[in-house]
Amino acid sequence: MTQDDDTPHPNKDYDLSTPISSTSGLRQGLTSYGDSHFSLFLRKVFIKSLGYSEDALSRPIIGIVNTFSGFNPCHATLPQLIEAAKRGVQLNGGLAIEFPTISVHESFSYPTSMFLRNLMSMDTEEMIRSHPLDACITIGGCDKTVPAQLMGGISANKPVLPLITGPMLPGSHRGKRIGACTDCRNNWAAFRAQEIDIEEISAINDELAPTIGTCGVMGTASTMACVTAALGMMPLRGASAPAVSSARLRIAEETGANAVSVAKVKRKPQEIMTEASFLNAITVLQAIGGSTNAVVHLMAIANRHPALQGVIKLQTFEEIGRKTPLLIDLKPSGENYMNDFHYAGGMLALLLTLRPLLELSAMTITGQTLGEVLDASTFRTFPLSQQIIRPLNNPLYPDSSLTVLRGNLAPNGAIMKASASKDRSLLSHTGPAVVFENTADLATRIDDPDLPVTKDSVLILKGIGPIGNPGMPEAGLIPIPRKLAESGVKDMLRLSDGRMSGTAGGTIVLHISPESALPESPFGIVETGDLITCDLAGRRLHLDVSDDVLNARVEQRKQTLEEQGVLAQRKRRRGYFGLYERSVNQAQDGADFDFLAANGPSDD
Ligand code: FES
Repeated sequence: MTQDDDTPHPNKDYDLSTPISSTSGLRQGLTSYGDSHFSLFLRKVFIKSLGYSEDALSRPIIGIVNTFSGFNPCHATLPQLIEAAKRGVQLNGGLAIEFPTISVHESFSYPTSMFLRNLMSMDTEEMIRSHPLDACITIGGCDKTVPAQLMGGISANKPVLPLITGPMLPGSHRGKRIGACTDCRNNWAAFRAQEIDIEEISAINDELAPTIGTCGVMGTASTMACVTAALGMMPLRGASAPAVSSARLRIAEETGANAVSVAKVKRKPQEIMTEASFLNAITVLQAIGGSTNAVVHLMAIANRHPALQGVIKLQTFEEIGRKTPLLIDLKPSGENYMNDFHYAGGMLALLLTLRPLLELSAMTITGQTLGEVLDASTFRTFPLSQQIIRPLNNPLYPDSSLTVLRGNLAPNGAIMKASASKDRSLLSHTGPAVVFENTADLATRIDDPDLPVTKDSVLILKGIGPIGNPGMPEAGLIPIPRKLAESGVKDMLRLSDGRMSGTAGGTIVLHISPESALPESPFGIVETGDLITCDLAGRRLHLDVSDDVLNARVEQRKQTLEEQGVLAQRKRRRGYFGLYERSVNQAQDGADFDFLAANGPSDD
């Protein structure tokens, strides 16, 4: 007997007199064969080869984005998370179907993971848009993956539920806790300064990432996890539960359950990620002393929303920062690790503390407002909680942790994480520039004993903006020249048009715009010996040359770039590299591709 002999009734999907008009389940987004009934018929032919029944195929379909990669240890728990998320979907009457997108880790992508963020966002957007999904769980964690998935999700605007892989636990070296990646950088700096030897740095290397998961400090991954929760896109515990905890798997199961509910009401990302949600996310970003990278990512995500272009701006970060103190005592601004934040109450405790500064009417993924989520909480503060998550009247740092600087050197803005400065006298400082034209120049000369540099110099690194070294690499933490490091200098004022890791600290000005690769960039014409002023209180970044000199240098440089054929070369370059160079916008717009912004490329 064949299966067909068992079929009691003809399947009405093949009734040619009834048009297929459904926008849900397997019937949505049919492949274009010019005959919708045949398209559905064929789709069922192939999916049934996997053994699915008509009953299974009639359920809400929940896609699960699988970003497992052998090159991405931050995502090593994907198999368990997928299993738990599927359990949540299927216990609630949905059908879970996983599919891959690209996966990007910080340390394995050349020239930098950020180069691939926009590609991953396009992959995510188009896979969600083109497949018959009623909702989609996007599993990410490592720095660029969550922003890419939010960018793709908000553009596709189908129900999307982020699920974060979660932070690793800290390790231990000689009785002291250490963890990726603030301590990677601190210890490397100590090694460069010959404060620790090669045996010790080798031993430390073994302990910095003692479990799988994302970096265990308030770096970009943790920041984006907190910001995603603040946007209302996921359960609050999902921001901080350790990667290797059972709590993390329960969050995955809950996400699966939420996905079925969200699919039924078709709650879309553009309804959740509104202006109010972004204001909350930026408030959280300031309160956690979050990564400077989050500024770029949030701008990219906001600019994908048709109603938010020009509403959420770089200045929004500055305005919110002025009324939001730094409350979280986590590295790199403080001393602790993400598991401490989680045990202290995590995002729930933080949002309860920040309540007077929040937009409580903002919608969350479950349909509750943020105010309703907080009202339903029974959380009470306790001594550990207040050590890690300070009250508003006893902050770790009273002013903005992330500040926006402007001036003739950065007419379109620059970012500084003031809270991570190691020498606060440098926050108001004037000194002579020592210029490196690009990372190769930096590598060649930074440790040259004859480099004309003192602790008062201002180190300048050009050529690492979105176009200059495509992807804006995290080279903004310019190393202290070895001869100064060996004499005990721990911090200097450092400026670049690139980014730095969210786990790094120092008096570092980043994202200077327009970047030096653009012919009109004032940053591109800085010369060694020019005096530069950083004035945090005045939010000012100034090159001490007259307007006439500045304009003359810009004109001269435009001519040189033209003669060298640099600009013509950019127009001709092939492949993704060429697409990137021609389409990426500047840091203040999110370093996204201009054609991916909600309203497409602007005229300028
Ligand atoms: Fe993946 Fe730090 S390397 S989060």
